[in-house]
Amino acid sequence: MKRIWLACLLLVAITAGNAQTKVYQTKSGKVRFYSSTAVENIEANNTQVDAKLATNGQMVFMVAIRGFVFKNALMQEHFNENYMESDKFPKASFMGTVTNIKEVDFTKDGSYKVTVSGDMEIHGTKQKVSAPGTIEIKGGVVTATSVFKLTITDYGIKGNYIGDKIAREVEITLNCKYD
Ligand SMILES: *[C@@H]1O[C@H](CO)[C@@H](O)[C@H](O)[C@H]1NC(C)=O
Repeated sequence: MKRIWLACLLLVAITAGNAQTKVYQTKSGKVRFYSSTAVENIEANNTQVDAKLATNGQMVFMVAIRGFVFKNALMQEHFNENYMESDKFPKASFMGTVTNIKEVDFTKDGSYKVTVSGDMEIHGTKQKVSAPGTIEIKGGVVTATSVFKLTITDYGIKGNYIGDKIAREVEITLNCKYD
């Protein structure tokens, strides 16, 4: 985590030094977790995503794991205690870049298809990931969205129900409207 905060500071420092670069941010981005199996579907929403997007393409997301809210309180408890070990690993993060940022015109309304790649850290385990997304500009308001699959076992997450009640591959939906 220390390394990530350092990287965030670095991002702010880099961008502050360049008058041309603007940083959009929010502390209330949304992320949805969805697991679908023949046994059951499990969904949780989190509205505490700390997100930054710089016009040079740098992108950071921080997610408080305990911010995921399930319909079933017991399920939420198991998610935190048994699977995510949230006391030990309270945050998940992503740090990367929009690889085709040059195609995004922040001064013009539009919906731009982007590819984001970088390092995802979940449950204390880091993986290189790449995902498609959209950056929407509307009247100066910037929103980033993405839907992608994540293989939870790649992050050392273990539990009896993985591959049974809980899918090995879950769907993540991200929606961050920057302030
Ligand atoms: C998550 O949010 C979606 C969209 O707002 C909503 O339809 C769904 O019921 C929510 N799920 C839970 C578990 O709160």
